[in-house]
Amino acid sequence: MKTTLTTLGLSLCLLVGCSGQKKQAETNFIQENIDNAVAQETLQTDIIEKSGKILNPRTIDKDGNIVYIPIDDWCSGFYPGNMWLTYELTGDQKWKALAEKYTEDLDSIQYLTWHHDVGFMIGCSYLNGYRLANKTEYKPVIIQTAKSLSTRFRPGAGVIQSWNTDRGWQSQRGWSCPVIIDNMMNLELLFEATRLSGDSTFYNIAVSHANTTMKNHFRPDYSSYHVIDYNPETGEVLHKQTAQGYADESDWARGQAWALYGYTTCYRYTHDQKYLDQAEKVYNFIFNGKNLPEDLIPYWDYDAPNIPNEPRDASAAACTASALYELETYAPGKGYKATADKIMESLASPAYRAEVGTNGNFILMHSVGSIPHGAEIDVPLNYADYYFLEGLMRKRDLESGK
Ligand code: GLY
Repeated sequence: MKTTLTTLGLSLCLLVGCSGQKKQAETNFIQENIDNAVAQETLQTDIIEKSGKILNPRTIDKDGNIVYIPIDDWCSGFYPGNMWLTYELTGDQKWKALAEKYTEDLDSIQYLTWHHDVGFMIGCSYLNGYRLANKTEYKPVIIQTAKSLSTRFRPGAGVIQSWNTDRGWQSQRGWSCPVIIDNMMNLELLFEATRLSGDSTFYNIAVSHANTTMKNHFRPDYSSYHVIDYNPETGEVLHKQTAQGYADESDWARGQAWALYGYTTCYRYTHDQKYLDQAEKVYNFIFNGKNLPEDLIPYWDYDAPNIPNEPRDASAAACTASALYELETYAPGKGYKATADKIMESLASPAYRAEVGTNGNFILMHSVGSIPHGAEIDVPLNYADYYFLEGLMRKRDLESGK
């Protein structure tokens, strides 16, 4: 059997050429994953559409029920984002109409100022609509969101404050101005707002935040802390801690992914070499580092205490893969695409990709929200799906030379 397959492979190779065969395999991989995503998202969306309500699915609970979230939840942009990406991947107008409807439900988020996550919320929804479908009417929403986010900039420290400290579990930690590495993901919205409005304030805030984060969030090996707490007036670093990782000095997997993605994005808008260098150093930390499983889907924390018996985090892997496709375009020939391809193959395998009709109709299984909070452990998450779809789109664009 082995000989027959090898012989078949060889003859095919001779017939269409090995590179032709590779191209075919790449196309098949992308198309098969698009078909799977469409099947899952159709089921997910049909349930919501039939309810007559506008609902926003984030994950599933312990009993397998779909968890829907309010629009001020940090994850509310991913569901419409998944629809925009599906529209981009399929060209099917049905997804555009749905994406518009679920995006526009987030309209009031442009005025939200009580947390920093509006970059995710409006970036994945309105900004994707603007970018992928030329929805020029979304421009004022993007600019207003950047204004709202800018109210959280603390000039004395040079950073955007991530969380408020007057409510919830954040109020128990003794923080003054907590900034999390995740905040790097908000900068794209600020860069875009400057591009759209001509107002450089947003760009300057983004650069200040990226530079201050580069200075204070990273250890000598380029791993990242999760939370840095600042004196907002002087910029003094008061605490270096974690909220979602295993320990203050551990390497929370999604945090490393946010860092890689964030600095790659900063390079896109600034062409400042130091951001590209930073992204590459974070890459080297992740992939030359410790405790990375062979399939490249990390444990939720690289220092989790019971490795290999610890949950994986598919969301960190998907975000990493998507970032690496972009990094490949700025620094080709260093293997970033090959690494991303390997991650995508793992994610698309039955080990991580759910069978259609299961998993609350989310695409990927096995992500982690926050183990210290006992929340969302080994579950699907809408942002794992988002970065998987974005990775698929970027992979397709790279392979077609777009
Ligand atoms: N931004 C929150 C998280 O990564 O879980």
